[in-house]
Amino acid sequence: MKVVAIVGSIRKESFNLKLAQHVQKRYADKFELEILSLRDIPMYDQDIELDAPKIVLDFKARVKAADAVLWVTPEYNSTIPGVLGNAIDWMSRVDRSVNGKPSMIMGASMGAMGSVKAQMHLRDILFASGLNSPLLPMNEVYVGAAHTKFDENGNLSDQATIDFLDTVIENFLKWMKAFA
Ligand code: FNR
Repeated sequence: MKVVAIVGSIRKESFNLKLAQHVQKRYADKFELEILSLRDIPMYDQDIELDAPKIVLDFKARVKAADAVLWVTPEYNSTIPGVLGNAIDWMSRVDRSVNGKPSMIMGASMGAMGSVKAQMHLRDILFASGLNSPLLPMNEVYVGAAHTKFDENGNLSDQATIDFLDTVIENFLKWMKAFA
């Protein structure tokens, strides 16, 4: 199984990136996780969507080559960051690269609620848009107070979160296999 993680933060020390890296390392024997960066994805422009920049085509090709998608989102002003919305705009057009791929959402924020509002919006967007990516129900991962849950080396150190993820990822694996 090959999964792509789409991380909605381009910050070098991003907790969401670290969360994705935790999943990548801890479950390496269960699936391959490729973490995609949104750093250099240009703003979506309908004028060029049929002749999109190479970096966009490469990004979409990587998504298309995966069996499943892991969305990892911070919360900006009670919703998803613009970089993530922008990537969704590109993916919703022309060849709809996530079409039919099972996916799940997780996220971290420094607030107590762990990006819950952003995740709710992301669920709405993915449901309402033409992306058609069946989302794992329940199994909601809200890593709140993220600045207290990673050690100085960037590793997830909160045992309750680590244990919860073990259960959630098992469920995600079953979900992926159901669509394989
Ligand atoms: C935030 N942050 C934030 N946190 C939160 O829980 N709810 C929110 O609505 C917001 N809004 C917000 C807006 C903007 C513009 C920034 C820069 C930050 C704080 C946010 O949780 C924190 O910066 C995280 O560290 C962002 O995720 P990464 O970059 O660490 O993955």
